[in-house]
Amino acid sequence: MFVADIADYREAARRRLPRFLYEYVDGGAFTETTLRNNTNDFQSIALRQRVMSGVGEVDLSTELFGQKLALPVALAPVGLAGLNARRGEVQGARAAEKAGVPFTLSTVSACTIEEVQRGTTKPFWFQLYVTRDRGFMRDMLARAKAAGCNALLFTVDMPIPGIRYRDMRSGLSAGTPLQRQVKQISQVMMRPRWAWDVGVMGRPHTLGHVAPLTQGKAGVEQFWAWMGQNFDPTVTWKDIEAVRAEWDGPLIIKGVLDAEDARAAADAGANGLIVSNHGGRQLDGVPSAIKALPPIADAVGDRLTVMMDGGVRSGLDVVRAIASGAKAVLIGRPWIYGLAARGEAGVSHVLEILAKEMRVAMALTGASRVADLNRNNLIQ
Ligand code: GLV
Repeated sequence: MFVADIADYREAARRRLPRFLYEYVDGGAFTETTLRNNTNDFQSIALRQRVMSGVGEVDLSTELFGQKLALPVALAPVGLAGLNARRGEVQGARAAEKAGVPFTLSTVSACTIEEVQRGTTKPFWFQLYVTRDRGFMRDMLARAKAAGCNALLFTVDMPIPGIRYRDMRSGLSAGTPLQRQVKQISQVMMRPRWAWDVGVMGRPHTLGHVAPLTQGKAGVEQFWAWMGQNFDPTVTWKDIEAVRAEWDGPLIIKGVLDAEDARAAADAGANGLIVSNHGGRQLDGVPSAIKALPPIADAVGDRLTVMMDGGVRSGLDVVRAIASGAKAVLIGRPWIYGLAARGEAGVSHVLEILAKEMRVAMALTGASRVADLNRNNLIQ
């Protein structure tokens, strides 16, 4: 199919992926109200058009933690990303590297840190959860250091997994193992291109880092079981201080929606913060990320680098987020849609689309540099 924008990539991904995988990527928690608000609330922010402002050549580059980025966008960590196309995390990381933006590898990825390192030439970011098994955490930190990862994203909004009804209906997470298997196999049979690309050519499709902990059995089936058993609801900011002591590079806290928590993250020694509701996948009913952003940017923007994720579906949304106080945004579903539809080329195209749309939005709001964007570019 012809793909022009991110919405087209979403449809192309839907046609390509087995249902349980598409629903896992696309879906959110409970009634998906927050998931919908993440995208809808962006649309309700009006850009303030300014004409005849002589913007000249628009420069999308920015600097983050001493790294030069071609545009203020990073690829978010996404669990199971590597199952959306053959060795998917390596393909995503390559596209990010070519586009000059950071790639973040999830703990629950198909490809290991070492595989992504072998497939790329520049450092990437690594995401970690607080797990009950602190030894696993420390081991992952050491591997991230050894692989030269140049930022650590610490996900703090998953003390327990969210409830996702779409995953139950699709056969990913409900029913007996046999019922799930029957559903998933029949869905895979309806997607022969994916079955060949990922199922046959993309082996092994265990989750790289987790597999050794589940006796090598760590496909989609073991994924939620491992997550459920290993997330730690007793975690506090003290644990972040402990991680801080072990990690010299930029430490970014992902999953904050409240200014009080943002201050606590700054007090714990974080360098960056991602305003996020986990893509609407954890607690439904919380505010959209773009609505939660401005008060947090006001509260801690001078103490750490504030970013956001959730609901970015165009370059216009990137501009809206930066104008609302973010230094950069992370995209999750958009790069996965691109990856599922066309592999590395699809991810590259998604990033090109965002850049092209950003350029138009900035030219017509009278901003020639990312640093020029502020709330004056929006009609409040
Ligand atoms: C994992 O982080 C997920 O949202 O599924």
